[in-house]
Amino acid sequence: MFGPLPGAVRLLDAGSGAGALTSAFVSHCCRKGSDVRCIDATLYELDEDILGTLGATLQECEDRCANAGILFTYTVNQTDFILEMSARLTGDLFAKPPPLFDAAIANPPYRKIGTESAERHALRSVGIETSNLYTGFIALIQRLLAPQGQLVAITPRSFCNGPYFRPFREELLRHVGLRRIHLFESRQAAFREDHVLQENIIFHAIKSSEQPREMLISSSSGEHDGDISETIFPFTDIVHPSDAGKFIHIPATAKHASAKHAMDGLGSSLASLGVSVSTGRVVDFRLRGALRKEPEPGTVPLLYPCHFNGGAVHWPKAESRKPNAILHNEETRQWLVPAGVYLLTKRFTSTAERRRLVACLFDPEQVTANWLGIENHLNYFHTDGHGLERSLAVGLYAFLNSTIVDQYFRRFSGHTQVNATDLRALKYPSQAALRAMGCDPAVLTLPQEGIDELVAKHLHVRR
Ligand SMILES: C[S@@+](CC[C@H](N)C(=O)[O-])C[C@H]1O[C@@H](n2cnc3c(N)ncnc32)[C@H](O)[C@@H]1O
Repeated sequence: MFGPLPGAVRLLDAGSGAGALTSAFVSHCCRKGSDVRCIDATLYELDEDILGTLGATLQECEDRCANAGILFTYTVNQTDFILEMSARLTGDLFAKPPPLFDAAIANPPYRKIGTESAERHALRSVGIETSNLYTGFIALIQRLLAPQGQLVAITPRSFCNGPYFRPFREELLRHVGLRRIHLFESRQAAFREDHVLQENIIFHAIKSSEQPREMLISSSSGEHDGDISETIFPFTDIVHPSDAGKFIHIPATAKHASAKHAMDGLGSSLASLGVSVSTGRVVDFRLRGALRKEPEPGTVPLLYPCHFNGGAVHWPKAESRKPNAILHNEETRQWLVPAGVYLLTKRFTSTAERRRLVACLFDPEQVTANWLGIENHLNYFHTDGHGLERSLAVGLYAFLNSTIVDQYFRRFSGHTQVNATDLRALKYPSQAALRAMGCDPAVLTLPQEGIDELVAKHLHVRR
């Protein structure tokens, strides 16, 4: 991933282990056409047991460089990178000044660091507030880069979103320009042996206060020999200019591209299916006096996301924090819908949830009522304010819960909110295809794999 390098490269490999990354960097510089004539590598590694292997790797690097006409020198520091560099960066009169590097390659250690740990104190002393060792490493490495110095690192994806990593993202994006991100789409493949279950990325960044106009996003499954798909995105698709949280969005291009292909083949709009989607009309805090914790005479069911239970609505919910019912009277009737088969989707999902779009069927055969309240955190699909024909509703259930739709949705929606307008803008399968998917009620109990198979079969998508 490195771009053009200077003739003499000062290389940093912090947390070098056995030196695999320095060795890869050396291979890169030894290839034909490289201008690099001299590499001075500085390595940090705490683990005493690995130093012998590291020494052998570096000797082998020196030999390869010699054959390629490159001078290779190195220093191995068996010291704590965090503690040493934090001390050197404080500008303490008695500490050695920090070194500068033209290139850094890193696969830093991943471990949570407690608020009172030595690492946390050290990082805090140079203004870095972060809760994981790997972001501590990256924050320090970034500061050690010369102007236009380059960093290539493999890390978990976790720093790209969430409030905890926000200060880290702000500092990173202030000082380095992102050039490329590669996403391993499988959470399992890269670190299978280590039982580390997380998505990992490799990113390339350059020390500079400017972000590029466009950047390359690539992705692969993480399996050996997996195909790599690449797409260029405007930088504003990756970090939205108006996003104060500075989330770094990474479209998973391989899956997204095939989802787009499948969706492009669909010809129906929601309107052409005779179906509408609206946001639940009961805004609970405005109707507080009409809400009831449990159903009682004169009330009708009030549905919230908490009533979703697998494919179907389970109502009433015992010991629910949300009210189960709403009074049915002159005042509330305008906010209610007549009983019928409705397909409901959550408007908000947590990032932990597997899909952005979560759909669930309301079946009047399971819940006896003449009218219903649908709360504002839900969207509902209906026909002119009435229920849907059952097989159509179940077909929509399968389609909206499919991985294809989820991937398609993620391409353009960086956030976890799904509005009725987003659902109106989607393209849908034909009535016939939806009904065919929905004719078997067992669809509601299918696992994800089963839903995806069913949808792929009816949309004629190769899986
Ligand atoms: C995830 S491993 C990566 C090893 C190697 N870079 C690779 O990619 O194969 C992280 C390495 O950092 C070392 N390490 C952990 N904490 C460290 C610290 N505070 N200072 C220096 N090295 C550290 C570990 O011993 C381990 O070898």
